[in-house]
Amino acid sequence: MAERRKLIAGNWKMNGLKADGLDLASSLAGRLNGAGAVPFDMLVCPPFPLLFPVGEAIKGSPLALGGQDCSFKTSGAHTGDVSPVMLKDAGCAFVILGHSERRADHGESDALVAAKAKAAHAEGLVAIICVGETEAQRDAGQAESVVAGQLAGSLPEGANASNTVIAYEPVWAIGTGKTATPDDVRAMHAHIRAELGKALSDAGAVRVLYGGSVKPSNAAELMAVENVDGALVGGASLKAEDFWAIAAACR
Ligand code: 13P
Repeated sequence: MAERRKLIAGNWKMNGLKADGLDLASSLAGRLNGAGAVPFDMLVCPPFPLLFPVGEAIKGSPLALGGQDCSFKTSGAHTGDVSPVMLKDAGCAFVILGHSERRADHGESDALVAAKAKAAHAEGLVAIICVGETEAQRDAGQAESVVAGQLAGSLPEGANASNTVIAYEPVWAIGTGKTATPDDVRAMHAHIRAELGKALSDAGAVRVLYGGSVKPSNAAELMAVENVDGALVGGASLKAEDFWAIAAACR
């Protein structure tokens, strides 16, 4: 089986001001620097205004930086948008795309997510493409078909294991304290890997993260599930101690 190093990613969402972000990122960078060899990569994705200061604060440490979204364009008359070139300039190596909150709040379609991922790839950014069903879709027995459709529509041409990470985030588990059971996660991650196999030649090497109410108390169980290659963490990524404890649950 392909060797996949776990990725522990923090999605700060619309939280934190400059001082909070600097404290959090510096604490994580310090822990990583002091930890020596660890079996995971660690990433923080602050809100846009914090990218430059946080990027400066963690420069030279193994802590990676990512954006929470980007435009599908590189520059120009697109008020309010942030281009992948700008993310790169701020020190980002990753960008989260197609998060369910953006799909819901901003009406982002699979096609738009694919266009954004293509633009991110062109700048050398790794796209973390999010997929996941709503509670109603799961109850209707549609979870697997919904996720398969999102994957097929959101993966751009040229996607591969080096430039793309998938995050499975069941919408009903985000910020609710409810997590999918390890059995459900195992089944969905196997399904995602099989679907990736239809589109990518190196599907076995793509990292597939789980997201949705991951916290220190459930991380070890979730991270031990087959085909789970890390976590995309919201609420619990805002406290250095909790986020670090989640990472430490990786073996
Ligand atoms: P929570 O960890 O707060 O449930 O959020 C998950 C998420 O949406 C990460 O992108």
